[in-house]
Amino acid sequence: MSKPIILTGDRPTGPLHIGHYFGSLVERKKAEQTHQLHIMIADVQALTDNWENPEKVRNNVLEVAADNLALGFDTDKTTIFIQSRIPEIAELTVFFSNLVTVNRLKRNPTVKTEIEQKARLFGTDGESVTLGFLGYPVSQAADILSLKATVVPVGEDQLPMIEQTREIAGKFNRLYKTETFPLPEAKLSNAPRIIGLDGSAKMGKSLNNAVNISDTPEETIKKIKAAKTDSENEIRYDPKKRPEISNLVLLYSLVSGIDTETAVAELKGINYGTFKTQLAEKINVHFEPIRQKRSEIMKDPDAIFDTLAQGTEKARIEIKKTMQDVRTAMYIDYPA
Ligand code: TRP
Repeated sequence: MSKPIILTGDRPTGPLHIGHYFGSLVERKKAEQTHQLHIMIADVQALTDNWENPEKVRNNVLEVAADNLALGFDTDKTTIFIQSRIPEIAELTVFFSNLVTVNRLKRNPTVKTEIEQKARLFGTDGESVTLGFLGYPVSQAADILSLKATVVPVGEDQLPMIEQTREIAGKFNRLYKTETFPLPEAKLSNAPRIIGLDGSAKMGKSLNNAVNISDTPEETIKKIKAAKTDSENEIRYDPKKRPEISNLVLLYSLVSGIDTETAVAELKGINYGTFKTQLAEKINVHFEPIRQKRSEIMKDPDAIFDTLAQGTEKARIEIKKTMQDVRTAMYIDYPA
């Protein structure tokens, strides 16, 4: 029996942070044992939001690749590849775009929220929403289905994408009387949600409120010292009422490998200043070997691109097989 296939991906729009690490990278690393794992660097998707800053996307491809490779994936088994290097994914996106209405895309809750955010930023909504942006769930469906992945590890905000992917797969199969595509399942991480160091709801790649995997120990200390707390000066874990300090306690528990209750007991009576010093220290100790490996890897960017090229080649073999099934089902498998 072959192993179930996972596709997971990151937009290369900034370095990966401690939230990505505990929320997905650690899970990926575990899944490597039991699944055929594919890690996609979603540069095409990143461009749907960053078409005006292609050099930002380009620079972050290397960063995100290194963040992943620092965990020590076995690249003989696991493929790590660049989305734009596989033109068949774009081809599949075109075929899928016939199966999705514009109204359905506008109803996708994640897209809907993003369109509202754009409207707030740029005033008029219709004028700032491109075809590429509106259609990115279709492109993501092509990412997933081109590899016939059955498991897609995601955060909450990505659930609507998987729902749409299942709809597209089902519609393709019914319409073209085929069993080409499996219906993939979303796999939510059970790691608790980490919020921004500034107290905002999300630790974000480009929000400057995160400890990055690639940060130096000094940067880590500085960021933790500046993290928002409250004026109670009493360490507790109560994410609803005391979100900022609870978030720091959560980080402490994660890097120490203990639960939050044990962490609170361990930290009883300590003031915030001392706690922050200890937290930064623990984070630095936890990430020391990963950061070490990361800087080794970063010394040789060509080797990183070699690894990506190998991953691309392997993933592309599978994707070409899928495309053959797709062409047969769609009556476009011409003899020559
Ligand atoms: N949309 C994902 C994100 O915002 C990135 C992504 C692109 C992805 N293609 C994917 C995730 C396919 C899982 C599967 O981070």
